[in-house]
Amino acid sequence: MLVAPSILSADFGYLTDEVQSVCAAGADYVHIDVMDGHFVPNLTIGPVVVEAAKKASNKPLDIHLMTQNNPFFVELFAPLKPEFISFHIEEEKHPHRLLTRLRDLGIRPAIALNPHTSESEIEYLLGDLDMVLLMSVNPGFGGQKFIPSVLEKTRRLKTLIEKRNPACLIELDGGVNNQNISALKEAGVDIVVAGAYIFGAANKKQAILSLK
Ligand code: DX5
Ligand code: ZN
Repeated sequence: MLVAPSILSADFGYLTDEVQSVCAAGADYVHIDVMDGHFVPNLTIGPVVVEAAKKASNKPLDIHLMTQNNPFFVELFAPLKPEFISFHIEEEKHPHRLLTRLRDLGIRPAIALNPHTSESEIEYLLGDLDMVLLMSVNPGFGGQKFIPSVLEKTRRLKTLIEKRNPACLIELDGGVNNQNISALKEAGVDIVVAGAYIFGAANKKQAILSLK
């Protein structure tokens, strides 16, 4: 299991230390939650802060856009050269155009789905995607409770991926901890995002290890 700590639960007064500590503790990616106050009822960070996180990180960035006007945000964050950028299917009229643009920019394209959005929405995009991000909480805040129905959706998505693009990864985001991690692995998850569980732990290394 690959692990991407979400800095949403970090202490932003000590961002450099927080990012360095999760990298040293075994993170595979650093997950960045970009919220615009429109798609979700919360507002987080822009390129200036993400640049500071990037400087502190020796792991690739995984940027999760929870925004309207996705093409604008893609161009805004592209110069920071993240490994992945995911945008929400619920907010994008021309997803194929945008994931092609990401590919041209040298960024691995990913699409995010809210907990209630069916995997069938992206069936015909799977061949062009490197990753699907399944939200297992309503996007907007860290520290929420895992929504169990996403497990069934993960299994259905895994079947579609095997048929259409076996190289496509499944990332799951929200409410992940050592209690649900085995079920997530069995359902076909490749990467977990975890915020509160890792940043709230007394020992970050042990927390990441418990997910791996
Ligand atoms: C929620 C974000 C998540 C969140 C996960 O909108 O996309 O990345 O920070 O946090 P936890 O692990 O605390 O649910
Ligand atoms: Zn996220």
